[in-house]
Amino acid sequence: MDLSPPRGTRDFFPADMRQQNWLLGHFRAVAALFAFEEYDAPVVESEALYTRKAGEEITDQLYNFADKGGRRLALRPEMTPSLARLVLQKGGSLALPLKWFSVPQCWRYERMTRGRRREHYQWNMDIIGVSAVTAEAELLAALTTFFKGLGLGPADVGIKVSNRKILQGLLEGLGVPDDRFAPVCVLIDKLEKVPRTAIEGDMAALGLDRSMVDRIVEALSLDELDRIAAAIGTDHPGIAELRHLFDLAADYGYADWLSFEASLVRGLAYYTGIVFEAFDRGGDLRAICGGGRYDRLLSTFGGKDAPACGFGCGDAVIVELLRDQGLLPAVPKAVDDLVFAFNADLRPAAMDVAARLRQAGRSVDLILEDKKVRWAFRRADQIGAARLVLLAPDEWAAGQVRIKTLSTGAEQNVPLDQLTETRRA
Ligand code: HAM
Repeated sequence: MDLSPPRGTRDFFPADMRQQNWLLGHFRAVAALFAFEEYDAPVVESEALYTRKAGEEITDQLYNFADKGGRRLALRPEMTPSLARLVLQKGGSLALPLKWFSVPQCWRYERMTRGRRREHYQWNMDIIGVSAVTAEAELLAALTTFFKGLGLGPADVGIKVSNRKILQGLLEGLGVPDDRFAPVCVLIDKLEKVPRTAIEGDMAALGLDRSMVDRIVEALSLDELDRIAAAIGTDHPGIAELRHLFDLAADYGYADWLSFEASLVRGLAYYTGIVFEAFDRGGDLRAICGGGRYDRLLSTFGGKDAPACGFGCGDAVIVELLRDQGLLPAVPKAVDDLVFAFNADLRPAAMDVAARLRQAGRSVDLILEDKKVRWAFRRADQIGAARLVLLAPDEWAAGQVRIKTLSTGAEQNVPLDQLTETRRA
């Protein structure tokens, strides 16, 4: 039998899990700093939640199947549709705005590259119910706080920002009907990844002839807001929102992370306004994080729309970047005490001692079999114990245990009734 996990998936041995929990701990800590509440949903959802017909890559990458009752289901490739489902389920009873976060495992049958695999954990931060750009600004504040907490600065990571309303303005100018907006965004996003000839047929099907595509590509190559403004109008909402966001970024103090990049569209169909993407400035890796505003997603599920924006930040790319930068810490095992009885007669007493220490909140490993004291020392080292608590016949007869602090080698006899008063090592 092949003992490897399925291609593109990972096992988490305890050492991997410590590192993973370290990263997820950063996600959660920043969410708490920004007062976001955690939610979750099933990893298996109805397939219909994801089968949008806009030609997105994510739809082709679904892990989908029929269950034993014939229901079409899929492993979630992302969290946003589940979030929309939860919000719709509660109808108007939720007090807006919501600031919710989640760290779901997501599944995509993806072509494997560095930092892209078939399952990943994705930190999601979303604000529902705020139509102003202040919501995007708050999300980007959380994102930059997260990067800074890992030791990354604006010289390591940049955040490209754009607004789909610019593309919408260009399409309106070209007479492309509004219902083509989402699939055109998905196609324009693909232009970065596949040769234009590969998608020209799809463009034509959406009413975009060559000259229109040329004009869009040309306009989106202008990376100065003023020049785009000249093409679609200075007071166009797409421009005004971006200017506002850059002002807010200066107020928060993270403006040096941001740059305007007109060609940024993002590949998901539901974004309607500002979109953003965090990237490594070294240029070696795929997007670290992606997000944007999706004010019309709820109505695609038959509900009443609410303004919404958010981002997803995967666990994979950021780890690659931290490793490259030497910022990935070794997360050691950490046990407070290892309790060892010198002989089998003292084992009940060792259990009592372990129970008292645990009661006091210390993490305690207990040696469960007959072993020599040398073995106990080796074991203490293996598990990263701070102290070895020894129960030897003479000391125990005097109501004491012997405690050795392993980092210093210091030893002391401690009366049983003072056991939990000893300072944490
Ligand atoms: P997305 O751009 O598809 O957005 O993914 C967001 C992030 O998830 C990516 O930037 C990357 O960090 C990570 N990611 C995605 N696919 C993979 C993969 N195959 N392997 C490793 N990491 C991956 C969304 O999913 C949106 N639902 C995010 C969002 C939340 N927008 C608004 N709220």
